[in-house]
Amino acid sequence: MEKMRVGIIGIGFIGAAHIEALRRLGYVDVVALADAQGAEEKAVQLYVPKGYSDYKEMLERENLDAVHICTPNFLHYEMAMAAMKRGIHVMVEKPFTVTLEEAEKLAAYAEQHHILSGVNHTLRMFPQVAQMKALVDKGDVGDIYAVHGCYLQDWLFLDTDWSWRLEPAMSGKTRAFSDIGSHWIDMVENIIGQKAVELLAEFEIVHKTRKKPLKEVETFSGMALRPEDYEEKRIETEDWCTILFRFEKGAIGCVNVSQVTAGRKNQQIIEISGSKCSMKWDSEDSNELWIGRRETYNQKVAKDPSLVEPKAKEVIGYPGGHVEGFPDTFKMQFHKFYQAIQKQDGGSVDYATFRDGVREMYVNDKVYESAQKRSWVKL
Ligand SMILES: NC(=O)c1ccc[n+]([C@@H]2O[C@H](COP(=O)([O-])OP(=O)(O)OC[C@H]3O[C@@H](n4cnc5c(N)ncnc54)[C@H](O)[C@@H]3O)[C@@H](O)[C@H]2O)c1
Repeated sequence: MEKMRVGIIGIGFIGAAHIEALRRLGYVDVVALADAQGAEEKAVQLYVPKGYSDYKEMLERENLDAVHICTPNFLHYEMAMAAMKRGIHVMVEKPFTVTLEEAEKLAAYAEQHHILSGVNHTLRMFPQVAQMKALVDKGDVGDIYAVHGCYLQDWLFLDTDWSWRLEPAMSGKTRAFSDIGSHWIDMVENIIGQKAVELLAEFEIVHKTRKKPLKEVETFSGMALRPEDYEEKRIETEDWCTILFRFEKGAIGCVNVSQVTAGRKNQQIIEISGSKCSMKWDSEDSNELWIGRRETYNQKVAKDPSLVEPKAKEVIGYPGGHVEGFPDTFKMQFHKFYQAIQKQDGGSVDYATFRDGVREMYVNDKVYESAQKRSWVKL
């Protein structure tokens, strides 16, 4: 069988991770990439046959089966629409778009034209996250009383830290929540099988202004900025966000989301209190699942494909004792996506699709609305 032809748009941090994960599948070929900056050099560095500075030219010339969109958020809509209009299947990075309206248009187009779609919420693909979902689905956790957790990072800890994500026109009107909190709520709604129906969000902008470099400053170069090297920019989006939730079957929830927590590079925690047991998963120890019980010993369960539920086994690539993590979740997500393309069946997939992207943008809007009003909002 011929390998599927794939193109990647945007080769920054995550575009390169997509290429690596796709190559691990074996049955797709990354035949081209597109980037507004140094496309040809990036193609050479990554051993991709062709680099385009204009993504439309790549879509036009390369006869692609699928495209991955890994550019800043405000570009996702036009790029996804341009690909779909050429009949190309699309995997888009999160946050899906910058507005709910864009998200709805993309999902409707994909559904009407039988385009297979994905939004890259890969927390669902961690083996122990899939195991938690399987245990909830089986009834082993009982009724869900409550769920709480966090998503914490520190890469915007200093007021000298800068990224396009700090500019609402490129990133959207919420930042910490849409950038990383959206992963957490996608994971939670998926595991517990309940949508949030009410929420109360509180935002904090820790750095009210930040120093935007006026010229290229190499990340992690450790060079002190001089006043002539930056402009002081007012910040409009949240560094921190705390949210209370009420879910549809009555569970209560809460999450803290931060991009300014020193030492937490990329930590996600979810803890569920059920009527039969509790469960906790921490991405810093991602191959283990803690199960807490009242009547007997607690357990720490190691990832092991011979012991987990069948749905969790689907996203495990190696035997017990062989650690799997972030890059493996990309491989598993893309495997499911390309299997769906091969079967031309997007009907029963368990990765996030454009329809889940609409939900994501809807929740983002509600979080923003609640934080502005400083009151509960209904979803
Ligand atoms: N799923 C995840 O875990 C995860 C992690 C990080 C980032 N992301 C998402 O991936 C996207 C990219 O983030 P990143 O951290 O890789 O950003 P980045 O800034 O490192 O890379 C963005 C790339 O897009 C390119 N680009 C910009 N405009 C372009 C255009 N018009 N045409 C072609 N290329 C263009 C830039 O030159 C750059 O190479 C964002 O939506 C982000 O939220 C997701």
